[in-house]
Amino acid sequence: MEGGILGHMKKLIVANWKMYLTLCESVALAKKVAKEASRLGSASEAHSPQARKNNMDIVVCPSFVALEEVAKVLKRTKIKLGAQDVEPARRGAYTGEVGLDDLTSLHVQYVLVGHSERRRKFGETDIVVNKKLRAVLASGMRPILCIGEPLTVRKRGGQMRYVGAQLKAGLRGVSKKDLQRVAVAYEPIWAISGNGGREDTPEDASEMHRWIRKVIHGGKASGAPEALPHVLYGGSVNAKNASSFLKAKGIDGLLIGRASTKATEFSRILKCG
Ligand code: PGA
Repeated sequence: MEGGILGHMKKLIVANWKMYLTLCESVALAKKVAKEASRLGSASEAHSPQARKNNMDIVVCPSFVALEEVAKVLKRTKIKLGAQDVEPARRGAYTGEVGLDDLTSLHVQYVLVGHSERRRKFGETDIVVNKKLRAVLASGMRPILCIGEPLTVRKRGGQMRYVGAQLKAGLRGVSKKDLQRVAVAYEPIWAISGNGGREDTPEDASEMHRWIRKVIHGGKASGAPEALPHVLYGGSVNAKNASSFLKAKGIDGLLIGRASTKATEFSRILKCG
């Protein structure tokens, strides 16, 4: 079962392949990830260390071009398919865009919305991000709302306010029931590998995750477990630091870019569950 109380017990590991791979490379990597995941999932002894490692849901987000072929590879696995973005219209005169109907027809289950690269390089505003998030929910898929502050904001200590505002704007108009299908990914922009990748600490990330939960629950420190979205961490997560982020309080999973495009490194990350 996904989502809700039971789904929440599992860590969510999301691989964001960005534009790092060609179609052929994506298919080859998907095959390796599928093999590794099934190897980890094949352990049956409930209390063996290997069984513990299975406590993860994996989502792979290839480029739009690779979605269909990667979907074929993942079809008979437990790995879920994600998209990196979406046009909130279902279909129509939107040159260059990929709409909701295209994604649902490929059985995409998760969609990243508001990734900082979309916001900064493609001018996506909070209003656009909120529109995408609500469209994804309405179509039955699960949005992963990406939020995070730039270095200038962090340097002046304004990150809580900044992230809180981004979160509220992104979730505007979302019902309590729908909130259960949302995941939030906190990715400080300065920690993302493509931006220089200064590493955040699990302690700092954990503090921000506590704040994110507080904002989601209207100022209260916590809410009913079934109403809590997964709150993921992202930003230069790799095989060396993944385990410490996963162990940090309040971190329900990871959004991984560059390290998820290397089969051996990603498989080491999957083993730290
Ligand atoms: P990174 O990217 O792991 O390469 O830092 C994470 C992301 O931007 O989603």
